[in-house]
Amino acid sequence: MAGGGVVVHGGSQSYKGGVTTFVVFACIVAATGGLIFGYDLGISGGVTSMEDFLHKFFPSIERKKERESGHENAYCKFDNYLLTLFTSSLYLAALVASFFASAVTRVFGRKPAMFFGGLVFLIGSILNAVAQNIALLIVGRLLLGVGVGFGNQSVPVYLSEMAPTKIRGALNMGFQMAITIGILVANLVNYGTNKISGGWGWRLSLGLAGVPAILMTVGAIFLPETPNSVIERGNLDKAKTMLQKIRGTDEVDEEFQDLIDASETAKKVKHPWRNIIQRKYRPELVMCCLIPFFQQLTGINVIMFYAPVLFKTLGFGDNSSLMSAVITGIVNVLATLVSIFTVDKFGRRILFLEGGVQMLLCQIAVAVMIGAKFGTSGQGSFSDSEADLLLFFICAYVAAFAWSWGPLGWLVPSEICPLEIRPAGQAINVSVNMLFTFFIAEIFLTLLCHMKFGLFFFFAFFVVIMTIFVAFFVPETKNVPIEEMNGVWRAHWFWKRYIPDEALNNTGSHVA
Ligand code: BGC
Repeated sequence: MAGGGVVVHGGSQSYKGGVTTFVVFACIVAATGGLIFGYDLGISGGVTSMEDFLHKFFPSIERKKERESGHENAYCKFDNYLLTLFTSSLYLAALVASFFASAVTRVFGRKPAMFFGGLVFLIGSILNAVAQNIALLIVGRLLLGVGVGFGNQSVPVYLSEMAPTKIRGALNMGFQMAITIGILVANLVNYGTNKISGGWGWRLSLGLAGVPAILMTVGAIFLPETPNSVIERGNLDKAKTMLQKIRGTDEVDEEFQDLIDASETAKKVKHPWRNIIQRKYRPELVMCCLIPFFQQLTGINVIMFYAPVLFKTLGFGDNSSLMSAVITGIVNVLATLVSIFTVDKFGRRILFLEGGVQMLLCQIAVAVMIGAKFGTSGQGSFSDSEADLLLFFICAYVAAFAWSWGPLGWLVPSEICPLEIRPAGQAINVSVNMLFTFFIAEIFLTLLCHMKFGLFFFFAFFVVIMTIFVAFFVPETKNVPIEEMNGVWRAHWFWKRYIPDEALNNTGSHVA
């Protein structure tokens, strides 16, 4: 789950009540939360490759191209500080905003946080659509980032609290699915708006981000607050009526009592940050830091942010660059489905390991192909069949990511943290992820200029390290209730030294 959501795992209860209209609405809101995040991930690459956009805001890139025309170094075509900042600023704002968002979500409730996130995002997309200078463009991106930070924090929490227990795990993956759909929609929109003559296609691309934002803002007005949130603020009667309405049955006593108990326990968790640095939580702490770090060091966002720029760098025309991004977008969505349907059957480790090996082979193939054609001078071109082969390797790489590190990078950290460390674990996971998303966006164009095709070996190196890490240090967590996680660490050759005997009978509860 791309967000600071509280994910509930391991509950074996089967409460009464099913999927009601409320739950369906909750899913729609969740989808808009994932969509706005995905749309942002996918939109900037296409826009920054559009001539009209570059002409208006980054004339120096055009001048450089003209100056070097004929002997230009393809690797450095787009190496421009402000262009990078346009892409990366959003993630820095999201990182900072998510800290505030988690407090707003807790103190004022999930609805106000969603409403605020949607509204700020909407303003950001309007500013972007009408921007006349770079400053306004970047202010708009920062506001979008604040919206993403709030959305990523509040929507998953809202969702996990509204959904009946039995579909909570699926919804976790559903959020990732919504992100990939957002990326694909952005790629399609870019493909379409690039055809608009008159030079304002990019404005439409950036402005359309407002559509899911409106849905999220309006959704937040009409949706009910979650019973958990109402209990947290002390109104038990109202919370119970609400739970009955949401579940579509009066028989909610058991679930209601569990919610109250969970709220009591959560209140007792005064120091999740102090807890998580204790020795017995070392495995969780390491996972919550390293998994998001490795997820970003796969290099996936090079493709998500810069695919059209990369394809253009390699000599693809405008249209085929954007079309190629649409193709990788479709592969991303379809391969995420593979993960959803196999993760509980085959387990996490096999997906991680297979995905790692496949990504590695594809990265080596891409590096060798680009190296052979462009060398270190950055001058060269691909024939049509070579370009097709390159696109094939990039798609195979995206597919491998989308059924492994994509969804698992969010799922695994969220399912291993017991309640007493969960808020801290989630916050670390989200912020490390955003930090390195920012970092990759920030350094990619410069690294490409300096490391050339070697850049793909750089990411390949990290994929080797992370795959070895999974092989030796990540235990299988398929079907393990959170109450039994300590048993898993205890049985592990390395982590067992951190788990004292008494911890085995004393793990966190299963409801957040
Ligand atoms: C990652 C994003 C990435 C997306 C691609 C997510 O899990 O956190 O950084 O862009 O997957 O589908």
